[in-house]
Amino acid sequence: MHKIQRQLHTDHHHLHKLLNCLSHEIGCYDFDSKRAPDLAIILSALDYVRTYPDKWHHPSEDIIFNRLLKKKVKESKLIKQLQIEHEKIILETKKINELFNSVAEDCIVSADELLTGARQYIALQKQHLDKENEFVYPLMDTEFSEKEWHEIENEVKMQDDPLFNNRSKKEYDQLYRYILDLEKEKCQNI
Ligand SMILES: [Fe+2]
Ligand SMILES: [Fe+2]
Repeated sequence: MHKIQRQLHTDHHHLHKLLNCLSHEIGCYDFDSKRAPDLAIILSALDYVRTYPDKWHHPSEDIIFNRLLKKKVKESKLIKQLQIEHEKIILETKKINELFNSVAEDCIVSADELLTGARQYIALQKQHLDKENEFVYPLMDTEFSEKEWHEIENEVKMQDDPLFNNRSKKEYDQLYRYILDLEKEKCQNI
């Protein structure tokens, strides 16, 4: 497996974990929650999505998806839809980030608006990941020669994941620990 392909797969795995963390924290806005939401964790998670998946993961996929479209693969219609979703996801990340930023600045936003907006956002991200995993990622195994991967590598330019790989910000340490603790908790409850 080429290192770019491996990184994209790893990103999906990590993004899934991050969305679970976001979902866990967002659940605190539910009326029967016994815990107060940790706004710093929510803002760090959204900051990470804007910094890495929105800036590297989706644009890199777009480069690969364009090549698949040129090959006229039978999944082309879905691939075009996924590219449109990339634009939508980037826009929605910005919007949900602004919403939680206004909470941090003490603006009044109803818990219902936060809960509904964040749940829709998480669902959009998850269904996008699932479609890519099921229908498009397997094509990367079969459609590209080594020479083509080399060309892709020149276009994509690898980048370090600033949370799961090489933590670039102090606040990501706390988020990373939170994600690990949540995973541990989930394993203990199985
Ligand atoms: Fe994508
Ligand atoms: Fe993806």
